[in-house]
Amino acid sequence: MTDRYAVIGNPVAHSQSPRIHAEFARQTGEVIAYDRLLAPLDAFADTVRRFFAEGGKGLNVTVPFKGEAFRITRPGDVSTGGVTDSEVVNTIKLEDGRLAGYNTDGIGLVTDIEQNLGFTVSGKRVLLMGAGGAAQGVMYPLLQKRPGMLVIANRTPDKAERLAKRFSRFGQLSLQGISAAPYSRLGNSPFDLVINATSAGLSGKMPELPPGIFASDALAYDMVYGRDTPFLEFARQSGARAVDGLGMLVEQAAESFFIWRGVRPQTAPVITLLRNS
Ligand code: ATR
Repeated sequence: MTDRYAVIGNPVAHSQSPRIHAEFARQTGEVIAYDRLLAPLDAFADTVRRFFAEGGKGLNVTVPFKGEAFRITRPGDVSTGGVTDSEVVNTIKLEDGRLAGYNTDGIGLVTDIEQNLGFTVSGKRVLLMGAGGAAQGVMYPLLQKRPGMLVIANRTPDKAERLAKRFSRFGQLSLQGISAAPYSRLGNSPFDLVINATSAGLSGKMPELPPGIFASDALAYDMVYGRDTPFLEFARQSGARAVDGLGMLVEQAAESFFIWRGVRPQTAPVITLLRNS
């Protein structure tokens, strides 16, 4: 029987993952089926268990279930995207009869930034906007790239402080450590890389950023893809290079594919394909 995979979420109809994985499968010659799986909001765990009981091999997890996915899995192999201090899981694999949880979002983000966009994070001043699931999922891979400093800003400042504290044991990975700051206090210190990990763009909004946050040659990265968010518009007007999260989407999918199949697909043609459609 063909190995079955799916993306599970609610809603899930908009997901590009089936298309991306179909391209990966075609390109690598792997024979898989990859579908969309809509889980009722109150029955995520049951839906996951049924999928695997019926022979499913792996799941990608999307909104709003990444936190729940963390709770029903055991950590997968850290060297291939196993969760490190993030409590969100976007990839599940059946390993030795148990559900192993991985998070490939952070690896996807840094791969897109460094390899596809040619921006080196090491030594740079990085601002991460948001302190929800999307932000925490990328913290560790981002820190592994050794930024000069990592500042987390959030509309609800307490959450940014809690996130900074939770990752403080990795503080030595960043030259000047990890800190939290409210948006209103950011104006005097420019950043080389500003990552929007808030969901504000989905409702046509953006965090209240003061002017002067972009250094010259700054990269502004919005994890939201497929739309021109107010943040990207603001970044362009401020002279920054503005990029959406399409590359991250494809790169995180490639990491999931690798975790499941042990084969690394080429991402560039798939990014181009999605960009042009
Ligand atoms: P996700 O899994 O996408 O991260 P989440 O955990 O609900 O979703 O987190 C959403 C993030 O976007 C939070 O950081 C949220 O800020 P608060 O913690 O203050 O709620 C942020 N966010 C959403 N809408 C926003 C807006 N209009 N302005 C600023 N931040 C916003």
